[in-house]
Amino acid sequence: MKQGQAQVIRLEEYQVPFYEAETIHLNVDLNDESTIVTSTVKYHRHPQQPDATTLALHGESQELLSVKIDGVLLDENSYELDETHLSLRDLPQAFELEVQSRIYPQKNTSLEGLYQSSGNYCTQCEAEGFRKITYFLDRPDVMSIFTTRMTADKATNPVLLSNGNCIEKGDLDNGRHFAVWHDPFIKPAYLFALVAGNLSCVSDEYTTMSGRKVALEIYTEAHNVSRCDHAMQSLKRAMKWDEERFGLEYDLDIYMIVAVDDFNMGAMENKGLNVFNSKLVFASPDTATDVDYINIEAVIGHEYFHNWTGNRVTCRDWFQLSLKEGLTVFRDQEFTADLHSRPVKRIEDVRMLRTHQFAEDASPMAHPIRPASFIEINNFYTVTVYEKGAEVVRLYHTLLGREGFRKGMDLYFERHDGQAVTTEDFLAAMADANEADLSQMQTWYDQAGTPEVAVTMDYDAANKRCTLNFVQSCPATPESDDKAPFLIPFKLSLLNPQGKTIVLKTDDNDIAADTQRVVKITEQQQSVTFVDVAEKPLPSLLCDFSAPVKYHFDYSTEDYIFLMQHDSDDFNRWEASQRLAQQLMLQMLEDRKAGRAIGVSPEVVNAYQQVLDNQDLDHALRAEALSLPGESDIAGEVAEADPEAIHEVREFFIRTLANGMRLSLDACYDSLNQDEEYAIDAASMGRRRLKNVCLSYLASIDDEMIHQQCFAQFENANNMTDRLAALSALADIDCPERTKALEVFETQWKDNPLVMDKWFMIQAGSSLPNTLEQVKALQSHPSFDANNPNKIRSLIGRFAMANPVNFHRADGEGYTFLTDFVIDLDTRNPQVASRLVRALAKWRQLEPVRAQLMKACLERIHQTNGISNDVFEIVDKSLS
Ligand code: BES
Ligand code: ZN
Repeated sequence: MKQGQAQVIRLEEYQVPFYEAETIHLNVDLNDESTIVTSTVKYHRHPQQPDATTLALHGESQELLSVKIDGVLLDENSYELDETHLSLRDLPQAFELEVQSRIYPQKNTSLEGLYQSSGNYCTQCEAEGFRKITYFLDRPDVMSIFTTRMTADKATNPVLLSNGNCIEKGDLDNGRHFAVWHDPFIKPAYLFALVAGNLSCVSDEYTTMSGRKVALEIYTEAHNVSRCDHAMQSLKRAMKWDEERFGLEYDLDIYMIVAVDDFNMGAMENKGLNVFNSKLVFASPDTATDVDYINIEAVIGHEYFHNWTGNRVTCRDWFQLSLKEGLTVFRDQEFTADLHSRPVKRIEDVRMLRTHQFAEDASPMAHPIRPASFIEINNFYTVTVYEKGAEVVRLYHTLLGREGFRKGMDLYFERHDGQAVTTEDFLAAMADANEADLSQMQTWYDQAGTPEVAVTMDYDAANKRCTLNFVQSCPATPESDDKAPFLIPFKLSLLNPQGKTIVLKTDDNDIAADTQRVVKITEQQQSVTFVDVAEKPLPSLLCDFSAPVKYHFDYSTEDYIFLMQHDSDDFNRWEASQRLAQQLMLQMLEDRKAGRAIGVSPEVVNAYQQVLDNQDLDHALRAEALSLPGESDIAGEVAEADPEAIHEVREFFIRTLANGMRLSLDACYDSLNQDEEYAIDAASMGRRRLKNVCLSYLASIDDEMIHQQCFAQFENANNMTDRLAALSALADIDCPERTKALEVFETQWKDNPLVMDKWFMIQAGSSLPNTLEQVKALQSHPSFDANNPNKIRSLIGRFAMANPVNFHRADGEGYTFLTDFVIDLDTRNPQVASRLVRALAKWRQLEPVRAQLMKACLERIHQTNGISNDVFEIVDKSLS
C-alpha cells in the first residue's frame, strides 16, 4: 500500500541523456530563513539523441519560483512539476535555462544537499544530493563547467568557498558580501560543493613534481586549528605518493578541506573542496588513538586520490560506483602499506573484509560489486562495492604485477581523462596495456557471493610429485544461483618437514621457478603438479590473501601450529593463528551444545605463547596473531547461531590462554609499559598495540590486582591509545575502577564531542548485562545528540553492530530498541537510519527464537507508514 513509489532502477535500462549541460552558473543567496538558488544552464541536445525535445530535470525538497528559457518566463502550463522532476517539452537543439527556487538549509536534517552544521553552511551532493539544491540533470554522465556566486551576511559567514578558484569577491550593502568561484574542469553535479560560515584556516603549500605551487588549506572552527597538523602532513604525503607510485599530479592551484561535525559519511572528494567528518581531520596525542591517526591519513589520501580516480575519470552511472570506490580504496590501501607496515595493513584489510563483506555476501543484501539494480543508490555504498571492489582491483595487480598494473592505469587515464566510463573500460585498459586476455575478470563484476575453493593434496612419494587439486564453487545469492567460474589467482607455497619453503617446479619446463606460485584457477576443477618434491610437504595456501575467496583444506591442529611457527609468509603465519582459533572455538561450541566439557590443550596454549615470546617478530604482528576472530566471525560459520554461547566460548578460550600465558603476558606488558615519548611511527604503534593486547588478555582474569593495573594505565597514560585501551578493558568488568575511570574521562572531555564519541562507544560495547539499559539512559546525556551521525554511530551503531551478546539479548529487547530508534530517525535522516537497520538483516543466521523476534521487528518497520525508500529497500530485501 505504502511504498507504491519505490522504483527499481536497472543497469540494463541505461540511456544516454537527451541533453548535455555545457556550463552551469549557480547563484546562491544565503539568508537566515531560506536560501534562494538560481541556476543558469546552457543545454544542448546530445549528439546520440537527435530526436529529443523533452528534458526531465531532477529536483526535490525545494519550492520552484520561476523557470525561464532563453530569458522568457514560462507559465505553469508549459512545464510539469512533480515531487521529483521538472519536465520541459518542445525544446530546441540548444537553449539557456534559468531556474529559481527556494530551499531551507536550516531545516535540512538529512545532511544531504545544502545544510547547516554548527551554524556553518555546507553541501553533500554525492550521490544524488544536488537535486535538493536546484533542478538539474543530476547524473554523473552529465559533466559541466561550474561557476558559483554566493552572497551571505559577512559577519556570520566571513568565509565563502566553492570548487576551483576564487575569481571575484567583494562587499555588498547591508553587511553582506559575495564571492565567485570558477572550476575550470568539467565535472558531474555530485562533485559540486559550497561552504559558507565562520571558519578558521590552516594553510600550507605543496610543490608538485612539475614545479607548480599548490596552496593547501584546512578550514575548521577556531578551537580546532591546533589539531590539524597531522591532516595537513597526511595530505602532503598523499600528494607525493601519488606522484611517485602512479605519476599523478594535482591539477588546480588550491586544495581545500573543510571539517564539519555533522556528516553522514567519512569524507567527500568534491573537486578542490573536500568536506570531511571532523573525526577524520582532528588529531592530537591526548584526543586521538593510533587507529585515528592512521585512519585520518588513509581517508585524506583516499579523497585526494579520487581527484584522478573518480573526478578526472568519473562513473557513467551509479552502477559503476566500484569503478571509482574500489579502485580508490585499493590506492589508499597501498598508500598505507607503503608508508607503514605492508603485512599489518594487509592483515587489517582482510580482517575487515572477512568480518563485514563476507557477511554481507552471505546475507539477503548480497550484490555484485557492480549491482544490476537498486531502489536507493545510497544503500550501495557498501563493503562489497568498496572492499571487495578493492580486492578485485588487487586481482589485476596480482595477475599483471606492479609494472603491468601501472601500464594499465596509464592507459586508463590516457583513454578516459575527462570522461564518465564503466568498469568494462577499466578492464579493457588493463587488458590492452598488457596484451592480456582478462575477459574472465568480468564475472567478478557481475556475480555476488564469496567463491569457495576446496583444496586437496596428493603426494606421490615414489615419483616425488605433489598435486594440488582445486574445486571452486559459489553459493547462490539473490541475483543468481548458477555461477560461472571465477578467475582466481591462488598464491601458494609448499613447506618441507623442516618448515622451509621449497622451490616449485612443474613439468612444463619451468623457468620461473620460485618458492611462491600464483596458480591461475579458471575452471570449476583444476590441478597443478609440482615435481622433484623430496618429502611430503604442507601447503601454505592463498598467501597474502591473493583472492577474496574462502578455501578449505583439511589442516589438523598440529598443521596450524606448524604454520604459525614456520610459514615464511607473514600474512599466512597470522592466518594460521586465526584459523586455528576459529577451528577450536567451533569445536568447543559443538562440545558445549552436546553437553561435553570444553577445554584447550597445552600445545595450543604453547603455540600462542610462542608467538607472544617471539622477540624476532615485530610487535604489531604478534599483536595481530593474538587478536582472535570476533564473535560475529564465528557466528558467520555456524547455522542457527546462538550469540550467548559464542560469547561464552570465546571468553573461555581467551581466559584459558590468559591463564596459561600469564607469566609471559606480565613480562611482555612490563617490558613495553615504559615511559616513552609519544610518537606515531610504526614501531611505537606496534609496541602500544602489543602492550594493550596483553592488557586485554590479563583483564579476562578475575583479579582485583588487574583492575588496579588497568586503572593505573588509564591514569598514567600520556596518549589516548593507552587510555582508551585501559578504559575499554575496564568497561567489561563490574568493578569500582570502571565507574571511576568513566567518571574521570567524562569530566575531562565533556566539552570535546569527538572524545565523548569514544566514551559513548566504550559503554555501548560493554559485555556487561545491563548495557542496553545504559545505552537507553545515555541517550539523555547532555553530550548525546540524536541528530548527529557520529553520536548515533557511537552509541546506537556500536550497540547494534558490534555488541552481539547484548544486542541479541534473548528477550529481544535489543531488537525492539533498535527498531524504535530507526523508525524515529528515519523521519529525519534516512541514510543513517538505513545503515543502522542492517543490523536486523542477518536474522536467518540466528537460532529460531531470536530469528523470529528479529523478523517481527523487520515486519513492524515494513508496515510503518511513510518509511523512506532507503530503509524500505533494506527491510524488504531482508524479509524476501
Ligand atoms: N565518495 C565517498 C563519500 C560518499 C559516499 C558520499 C556515499 C556520499 C555517499 C568518499 O570518497 C568515501 O568513499 N568515503 C569513505 C571513506 C573512505 C576512506 C572509504 C566514507 O565516507 O566512509
Ligand atoms: Zn571514495
